[in-house]
Amino acid sequence: MPQDITTTVLRNLALGGGNHLVEFDAPEMAREMQPGQFFMIGIPGSETLLRRPFSVCGLPGTFDDGADGALQVLYKVYGTGTALLASLKPGARLSVLGPLGRGFEPPDNAAAQPVFVAGGIGSAPFPALAATLRDKGPAPRMYYGARGEADLPLLDWFREHCADVVVTTEDGSVGERGRVTEPLAALLESSAPDSLHLYACGPDPMLRAVAATAKRYGVICDLALEAHMACGFGVCLGCVVPTHTAGPMGYERVCVEGPVMRAERLAW
Ligand SMILES: Cc1cc2nc3c(=O)[nH]c(=O)nc-3n(C[C@H](O)[C@H](O)[C@H](O)COP(=O)(O)OP(=O)(O)OC[C@H]3O[C@@H](n4cnc5c(N)ncnc54)[C@H](O)[C@@H]3O)c2cc1C
Ligand code: FES
Repeated sequence: MPQDITTTVLRNLALGGGNHLVEFDAPEMAREMQPGQFFMIGIPGSETLLRRPFSVCGLPGTFDDGADGALQVLYKVYGTGTALLASLKPGARLSVLGPLGRGFEPPDNAAAQPVFVAGGIGSAPFPALAATLRDKGPAPRMYYGARGEADLPLLDWFREHCADVVVTTEDGSVGERGRVTEPLAALLESSAPDSLHLYACGPDPMLRAVAATAKRYGVICDLALEAHMACGFGVCLGCVVPTHTAGPMGYERVCVEGPVMRAERLAW
């Protein structure tokens, strides 16, 4: 059940490249929140703006230095709302509505290895997922793509918590030069389809490419979708995507039926 709370910023760390990690106190919300779910956050100073959607990045226990009962959000500065969020100091007040939407489920086949595919700030939901899956099956493998070194926040965290991290950058500053879908396709080609379960989050073109690659090799693929959201709880219909499972209208709401959807469900 979503809660609408006003809470306190505990820390707001600049991670370089316009990426930040904000931590806030939310012990009751933390008990309900699942990886892949999101919040609508109202930012002080931006009262004229709509609340903004952000995924949960850290649940209690995800980050060793996280405060008890705190949640973390990894975000990148894009416009007015995220710039104001980045300016907040510890002690600032935030309004947070959540948990919202449907999050990630564990792999359908408990023996399958989770494979995270992230594009830049699309890495945000994966620390919480990695922590939730810890010791429940094979350790996750990660394919992490970005424009350059500055767009790989939490890379060290993923290197510590995943069995393997393959990095690709468009400028070649870290890892292989190119797109993340290239080494991913090589993995899928050399693996039994039911030995892997893909989880992807990032820009829309990357999600489409990952979905197409997964389909080609018959591997299950769950996508954490993004959409422009006005309400975040199913009323405005501003976030809809065409799906095969929708009723006669042909569309489902990313904020309620998603943001995590099985790739094959989408009628792209
Ligand atoms: C379910 C969900 C989860 C999200 N999780 C995260 C997260 O964990 N971390 C994070 O940094 N961002 C996340 N986002 C994106 C985040 O909501 C936007 O970056 C934010 O709303 C931008 O607000 P703003 O006021 O700074 O920018 P605005 O002033 O509203 O827009 C500035 C620019 O950013 C673009 N923009 C706005 N919204 C989005 C969007 N959803 N995706 C891409 N570009 C956008 C606009 O087109 C515009 O060019 C998520 C979005 C959704 C729907
Ligand atoms: S954001 Fe309003 S219905 Fe999804």
